[in-house]
Amino acid sequence: MSSQPFTPKVHLTRLSSNAETSNLQAKLRDTLTSKVKIFPSELLWDDLGLTKFEAFRTLTSDYYPARNETQILIKYADIISQSIPMKASIIELGSGNIEKTTLLLSALQKQEKTIDYYALDMSSDELSTSVHTLDIKFQQRGGISCHGLLGTYDDLVLWLHKQQHGVVSPVIFLWLGNSIGNYCSRDAAALLTRIVSSEMTCELRFIIGVDGCQNISQIERCYDAKNPLMQAFLTNGLRHANRLAEMSLFRDEDWVCTGCYESTESTWKYFYVAQEDLEMDLLGTSIKFVKDERMLAISSAKWTEYDIASIVRKAGLVVRNAWKDTDDIYGVYLVCQNPSGKL
Ligand SMILES: C[S@@+](CC[C@H](N)C(=O)[O-])C[C@H]1O[C@@H](n2cnc3c(N)ncnc32)[C@H](O)[C@@H]1O
Repeated sequence: MSSQPFTPKVHLTRLSSNAETSNLQAKLRDTLTSKVKIFPSELLWDDLGLTKFEAFRTLTSDYYPARNETQILIKYADIISQSIPMKASIIELGSGNIEKTTLLLSALQKQEKTIDYYALDMSSDELSTSVHTLDIKFQQRGGISCHGLLGTYDDLVLWLHKQQHGVVSPVIFLWLGNSIGNYCSRDAAALLTRIVSSEMTCELRFIIGVDGCQNISQIERCYDAKNPLMQAFLTNGLRHANRLAEMSLFRDEDWVCTGCYESTESTWKYFYVAQEDLEMDLLGTSIKFVKDERMLAISSAKWTEYDIASIVRKAGLVVRNAWKDTDDIYGVYLVCQNPSGKL
């Protein structure tokens, strides 16, 4: 018998080419030759990467964000869903395993709303499984139609530009899991701006889950870089780069994964640290690291309601409503276009 995992066949719309090999290789080369080296996040989130992140998320008892966000959605799904109009389209950015999405879609179905739900992710196995699971769950009672969009946030922005004249019903962007915090505040505002300025003629709203924890020891316990499950997730990113380049660019023994909280940016950051002077060749370009040089792997910002309001304002948006967990650290925010249009 085959040992291949079962991947249900659902139709996924492939958005564009940003997640494709040649573009990723070029992006890797560009980021590794820039002054501040940042590992492309797309390389962390292949199918294997997502599986490893899920293992970290579900098996690390100190990992509070998913627990706290789920608590909010269980408690407030009915109320949050009231801010999603009839016949709206929901586009979930980085849908992942859709556990929390199911809570919202169930509430919408109870409210007998007709909704087109689009899950966007660049991890094709997980996306295919998730959309299939939602399809089975929701198709019987009707109202909720589920679709999969395979691609990156950048691909989505290009795709939205192409849809601009065809969309009339409201579009709700669902961005859960503090994924917005993988960006620095400037880049988060820039991405929101690009989405908002996609010139769609319909009304746009966002529902964004944000971790606002300000307790540094709680953050350090949660994201401990020595956690083998986190190490496995991060190491897979380097190995994915090797698979992509079809050569051993990054040898496991040359790199150590570390993490620290940077209070000036309210952000937890993971780094790959070179263990000696290294030189590698990618697409004909020589890339050098000096011993102890850090390359940013991924970050997780901890933004309060005040921070979020200031980030979305830069995209011409306002926080219209906020739902918090009982610890008052995690927030789910309803963000709308600013009627005054002022930035
Ligand atoms: C931390 S997980 C969150 C998953 C889910 N939204 C949740 O709240 O549990 C981040 C998800 O975003 C996806 N992702 C990360 N960067 C992305 C990008 N640039 N474009 C599309 N998906 C992305 C990953 O594949 C992963 O499924």
